Amino acid sequence: MRHTLRLLAIVFLAISPFPVSGQTNPYELPDPLRMEDGRIVRTRRQWVNERRPELMEMFRSQMFGREPGPAPDLHSEVLEESRDAFGGLATRKQVKISFDKEENYYLILLMYIPNQRKGPVPAFLGANFKGNHATTDDPEVLMPSEEKLATYQPGYVVPERNSNGHRWSYDYILRHGYAVATFCYHDVDPDFHDGFRNGVHQLMDGDNPRDGESWGSIAAWAWGLSRCLDYLDTENAVDSKRVAVIGHSRLGKTALWAGATDQRFALVISNDSGCSGAAIARRKYGETVEAICRSFPHWFCSNYSAYGGKEETMPWDQHELIAMVAPRPVYVASASEDQWADPVGEYYSLVGATSVYNLFGLDGITDRRVPEIESPVVVGRMGHHIRGGEHNVYLYDWERFVSFADRFLK
Ligand code: GCU
Repeated sequence: MRHTLRLLAIVFLAISPFPVSGQTNPYELPDPLRMEDGRIVRTRRQWVNERRPELMEMFRSQMFGREPGPAPDLHSEVLEESRDAFGGLATRKQVKISFDKEENYYLILLMYIPNQRKGPVPAFLGANFKGNHATTDDPEVLMPSEEKLATYQPGYVVPERNSNGHRWSYDYILRHGYAVATFCYHDVDPDFHDGFRNGVHQLMDGDNPRDGESWGSIAAWAWGLSRCLDYLDTENAVDSKRVAVIGHSRLGKTALWAGATDQRFALVISNDSGCSGAAIARRKYGETVEAICRSFPHWFCSNYSAYGGKEETMPWDQHELIAMVAPRPVYVASASEDQWADPVGEYYSLVGATSVYNLFGLDGITDRRVPEIESPVVVGRMGHHIRGGEHNVYLYDWERFVSFADRFLK
């Protein structure tokens, strides 16, 4: 009987009568509540003390690598501050956050804080791809320095101001009472493979030899997000206990890993994170483990590539990354034309994580019918939408994120 039910479940997972395409081969997801020794987790305590650490160990040793502890000498310097951003809507603050005493390793955090506030405000924190100056038309935002650019990929061309402004709906976010903070991910670890000699790997690892479990770039960017949270803890205008970590695409994978490794993040949002983010690996739909390890080996620990083409042998799947956020709120966003990121697989990760939320007495998403395009769903502390259109972040996405955050961070 048990066997038949299981078989039915597999067949059910394999059929896709969904508006967003995504036919895949049959697969069976690992049960997040089943311990490696076969025991079933029945209490929150068992989850927190036994199963969650077991899964974290799996993700660390097999996928993202082991991140180090905090920075040796975190300190900050305000480079620029003005209450006049966006016509007086917000205070702009540009802060150099250094990780070491000598300030050889640092990032520049761009912050906007709404001027209309009664006390510390909640915030969105996320890394950006093209530089702080590319997230806005605000002419006061600093361009990356020559010193910083020298650490980026050889031949790096500085993107134009505001070239990614559509991804950062600052005005909307600020008017809804949130601060927003961002930094360029290359500041923490330049996104190219040079054998981990650049970025914070060098600072934190020194000459220690690397092995299969050594941290990759996603772990480094996530570490950078945590260091920003360390800083936000010292920023009076922001409530560091109400910070949502957010990211798009490779930085969506990063936001999920940051949310898993650093439980101080109050809410976690992944946008179009796809393979190795929210998408179920076993579906092998769109980007696969093999493809991502071939194109971006430096994002992961080197053990991960062993699962390329053998996703069914992975002792975990990506719904367990979502489960790691429990019991905190989690939001997974997709875009209908972004088949490379497998919107269906991203949705199923939420469904797969629900049993863990249930353990905390919380509802979760259980409906296997993938929602229609632009029909957002919020159940308990899980949120989801599929925006119509391409792989990107637009105001539509931010409207959903803000309304989701309003439920938990206000
Ligand atoms: C590539 C990669 C994805 C990634 C994306 C991005 O498309 O294959 O895994 O999410 O880049 O970060 O923009």
